[in-house]
Amino acid sequence: MQTATLHRNIIQRLFGICATKQPSDEGCWTFEDKKVIVDLTRAPELSNPDGAIRLEKKKGLSERVIVIHGHDRTYHAFSNRCSHAGRRLDPVPGAQQVQCCSIGKSTFDYGGKRLSGSAKKPVGIHAVTLEDDKLVIEVKV
Ligand code: FES
Repeated sequence: MQTATLHRNIIQRLFGICATKQPSDEGCWTFEDKKVIVDLTRAPELSNPDGAIRLEKKKGLSERVIVIHGHDRTYHAFSNRCSHAGRRLDPVPGAQQVQCCSIGKSTFDYGGKRLSGSAKKPVGIHAVTLEDDKLVIEVKV
């Protein structure tokens, strides 16, 4: 599979500055019983394909998670740690891929499989189900 590139400048890549922001409304998500619940009515960043939010270690969540409205028009969640050296991931617009924001540009498909870049291992994924207007993400820790 051919990999696409996320446009980040050299400074952004050197310092590992990701493109994906934390939600504008932090109240859009909760974490309980190893499940993240995202209320889509409060997460406008996920309204359109290629949109994403990153959830940091808060509210009892013990690992970073990135949630994506995929280019395939379904939702995906990943452990937000590149398997190379732990930098954050971003969706690649126009492709069913995520890419590390670092200089190594490790790229993974929506199944977590490594496609290219410095990483040698897959990246962790979490099961996502859509229930009405809520995403239920089962976080494997
Ligand atoms: S940390 Fe992702 S490519 Fe190095």
